[in-house]
Amino acid sequence: MTRTAIVAGASGLVGRCIVNELRKASGWNIIGLGRRMLTAEGVRWIAVDLADAADCQRALGNVNDVTHVFYAGRHDHPEGVPESVEINTAMLVNLINTLEPVAPLQHVHVVHGSKYYGHQLGPVQVPMVEHQSRAPNRNFYFNQEDFLIERTRQATWSYSTSRPHAFCDPAIDHPRSIGLVIAVYAAIQRELGLPLDFPASETGFHALTQFTDLALLGRSAVWMANEPRCANQAFNVVNGDWLRWSELWPDFAATFGMAVGTPQNIKLEHWIRDKGPVWQAVVKKHKLRTTDVQQLALWPYGDYQLSPQWDVMSSMEKARKLGFNDAVDSYQMFRRQFDHYRSEKIIP
Ligand SMILES: NC(=O)c1ccc[n+]([C@@H]2O[C@H](COP(=O)([O-])OP(=O)(O)OC[C@H]3O[C@@H](n4cnc5c(N)ncnc54)[C@H](OP(=O)(O)O)[C@@H]3O)[C@@H](O)[C@H]2O)c1
Repeated sequence: MTRTAIVAGASGLVGRCIVNELRKASGWNIIGLGRRMLTAEGVRWIAVDLADAADCQRALGNVNDVTHVFYAGRHDHPEGVPESVEINTAMLVNLINTLEPVAPLQHVHVVHGSKYYGHQLGPVQVPMVEHQSRAPNRNFYFNQEDFLIERTRQATWSYSTSRPHAFCDPAIDHPRSIGLVIAVYAAIQRELGLPLDFPASETGFHALTQFTDLALLGRSAVWMANEPRCANQAFNVVNGDWLRWSELWPDFAATFGMAVGTPQNIKLEHWIRDKGPVWQAVVKKHKLRTTDVQQLALWPYGDYQLSPQWDVMSSMEKARKLGFNDAVDSYQMFRRQFDHYRSEKIIP
């Protein structure tokens, strides 16, 4: 039986991985959504502004074969500025309001995140479990979830949500990547003849943290859509190992052929400002792709990810009990990312 999936935000980091996963599984027609008109193999692309109900009607009002929605859209927001609750909620509501009357919907999966628990605001109970209470701040995850709960009371379709942590992916065109931040930082330190110092605090070095490999997240989203017991449930999705940067750092130093340094309590956002010339020297010396080091990686995002102030751990027990036993070794994940950057001539 062929099913038709809409992937909202199909050009985004996680949307692309869900598309990949659907492509690998047989029996899916795939429709990709985003404001920009793009092309992707095996994907019918529809350009639509989900924040605009009339535009949704124009672009999607006649798309009457959608059985599954994978929602990975997120409205633009500068790093450090909270995402708009109103716009992000309206985007999901507009999409469902448009599709529901015309399409035989079966399942809607929405990608959320571990900020659901408020770990970014202060210490929380760890490991974080899905029935734990919501963070006290405003977050579009809560409004989207409330909408899904309310709407599925009367609907014939079900929903699920995923709660990943820091996204990790080898992509070289998405600067919001901790792997890219670390790889470029290491290349500059090495060029300057310095060790691989940890560019954040002692506390950040030693707190427990976690990662979500995006291929894993893609697989989990398709699993939730296929597994009836996931109906109307939320699931944490993380690699499954909890690590400290202090444990990963020697491995990174070995990978880059550098001595391990110490925590320096600096802000990469400031550190990078005068590193243009040294980066150009690295690029020239190693015949790398020409890149603007200020834009290549999102440096304030690096500061955020390298500075956990307390342990952050999500339990994978709920998904495991229902049969999702997929796990990723974070050491190997980072090594694969660094190898990919080398093969793409981004770093030496
Ligand atoms: N990044 C992380 O580490 C992380 C961690 C945990 C959870 N999350 C969550 O994961 C979800 C997805 O994040 P992401 O990092 O994959 O996002 P992203 O890379 O910024 O992608 C956002 C996607 O949404 C589309 N989009 C934005 N505004 C739109 C609009 N008005 N109409 C139609 N499409 C629109 C974009 O395409 P166009 O630009 O073409 O419109 C793009 O495809 C979010 O809920 C986020 O909170 C992220």
